[in-house]
Amino acid sequence: MSAPATPDAGAPHGAEAVANAAERRWAVIVVLIMASLLAMMVFTGVHWAAMPPSRVETVDVNTLHIKGEFVENNLGTALGKDGRIVVRLVAQQYSFTPQCLVVPAGIPVTFRATSSDAIHGFVIGRTNANTMLVPGFVSTFTTTFPTQGKQLMPCHEYCGIGHEAMWARVQVISQEAFFARASASGRLSCVAR
Ligand code: CUA
Repeated sequence: MSAPATPDAGAPHGAEAVANAAERRWAVIVVLIMASLLAMMVFTGVHWAAMPPSRVETVDVNTLHIKGEFVENNLGTALGKDGRIVVRLVAQQYSFTPQCLVVPAGIPVTFRATSSDAIHGFVIGRTNANTMLVPGFVSTFTTTFPTQGKQLMPCHEYCGIGHEAMWARVQVISQEAFFARASASGRLSCVAR
């Protein structure tokens, strides 16, 4: 007597066949998704290596406070001989130096800033002045403040337990007032002395 026949043992029918087909379909789709993500990673990596950003400016974190552009008495707003207005500042856990910036309204102001420890960032009030500050790199941008007034400048990159208390202030003043002050002293800020 032979065992009962099990017709088409390897080929399931009905619901099982549908489930298997669906599983296979999803397996293929997931593999395609992973392959495309991997391809994107390879592409961006090769692209950045082959065509690096046009300007990346580095700075030595270890000597930031000792020499060069970001020593303390060079921070604040400077009126250059060429008429350019440059604000230099340093971020550290958990403050900005200077704590209060003075800039004129209505003319371009260039910011040059870096961090001495963690990644920080700032945005100035409701303006488009907004950047990240990465240790070892100089962040620069140029913007024009349309209106006079006081603005708050919070750190907007989580940088540790003191992040939420990391603020600076910005006073946007008239061009006349700014140039009067700038001609009287080298580096402007509104830090109380
Ligand atoms: Cu500095 Cu958050």
